[in-house]
Amino acid sequence: MADATTPAPVDDRPYSPGLEGVIAGETTIALVDGNNGRLIYRGYPIGELVRNGTYAQVAELLWTGEWVAQAHLACAPLSDRVIASLRNLPASSHPMDALRTAISTWGAETSPPWPATVEQARAITALAPSALAAFARIRQGLDPIAPDPSLGLAAGFLYQLNGSRADEGRARALDAYFMVGAEHGFNASTFTARVITATRSDIASAVCGAIGALKGPLHGGAPSEVVSQLHEIGTPENAAAWIDDALARGERLMGFGHRVYRAYDPRAAALREVAEGMGNIAEWLRLAVAVEDIALQKLAEKSPDRPLKTNVEYYTAAVLQGVGLPPDLFPSTFALARMAGWTAHVIEQVAANRLIRPDVRYIGPSERHLPGAV
Ligand code: ACO
Repeated sequence: MADATTPAPVDDRPYSPGLEGVIAGETTIALVDGNNGRLIYRGYPIGELVRNGTYAQVAELLWTGEWVAQAHLACAPLSDRVIASLRNLPASSHPMDALRTAISTWGAETSPPWPATVEQARAITALAPSALAAFARIRQGLDPIAPDPSLGLAAGFLYQLNGSRADEGRARALDAYFMVGAEHGFNASTFTARVITATRSDIASAVCGAIGALKGPLHGGAPSEVVSQLHEIGTPENAAAWIDDALARGERLMGFGHRVYRAYDPRAAALREVAEGMGNIAEWLRLAVAVEDIALQKLAEKSPDRPLKTNVEYYTAAVLQGVGLPPDLFPSTFALARMAGWTAHVIEQVAANRLIRPDVRYIGPSERHLPGAV
């Protein structure tokens, strides 16, 4: 039996801060190949999907593994309770908080049972754009707009946001962004969704947790900071000096570097193609491309041994600006895109469920006693 002097047992099992390099699951949903700059959903390269597919088709692919050519997913109407919950929030609320609140209210009123199903995944993915658009209007003192069932998710979101149909080019560009953002392996928010699901909790709780994880600035990305960075640089002629100064101050260039990718992020390549097709951002894009070339050159000089390449956020900034979204909606728009990936992982988790419960190494004081207790 342990006595007062028994120290904690020595625990020399391997520990990786942040679980870096640890395999914490198996998946058939996506391959993120950081060394070769490849992202593959169920076997199909992201660039090919973006050029030939729609978000509805990609979402079905992620959920079921099947390519459904006629897939259509429209935004879902919001219940009175969900709208009331959004109206109850302060207008200054973070749009991610509003999205999480709407999903939470939906979960409370529908009680989606465990195990999660593809139907539940479709329902939650279709609800989210309506909820975000409704909040964006309510905070401006405007009424929410009912969804148009003939429109796909991206076009339907823009319609409910602006009250008029977006032109084909913008709707297509946002749909492409949704495809690019749909899935990315065991990132923090997806892992959160799987941990919650593994306790046999419901899909709404898993998605609320995932939204909470994505809200953090280390995960939710930096596209609005890319916008500020390019505004500050202003012209291609200023780029070299601006970048030299920033790097000399030890600052990071927004839209460059990635934890997994050591090659050019394939999502950035896909979105650059989309941005090049958008006439309304031609000038912005000229600046972005010129700054990118100089930044890549300067980063290679600064860190010759660590490849620092363009990441997805760089061209996300261009596309979402071209679509006409305000920068404070960028992170929550990312959440709309990631909904398909989160829910696909929820379904995969329930199919071979095991409670996720790692160990922790205790490094606190040895056993001791309160004064007078022994
Ligand atoms: N600009 C300048 N230097 C950089 C950059 C950058 N964008 N990114 C990394 N480095 C340098 C670091 O300063 C560090 O240098 P040091 O070893 O001399 O100290 C080295 O590269 C390694 O940096 P880490 O922080 O260990 O790299 P990590 O892989 O953890 O970082 C991250 C990845 C957070 C994305 C980083 O590259 C970064 O901060 N980029 C800028 C912000 C950004 O674009 N975020 C969006 C990422 S994509 C997404 O979230 C979907």
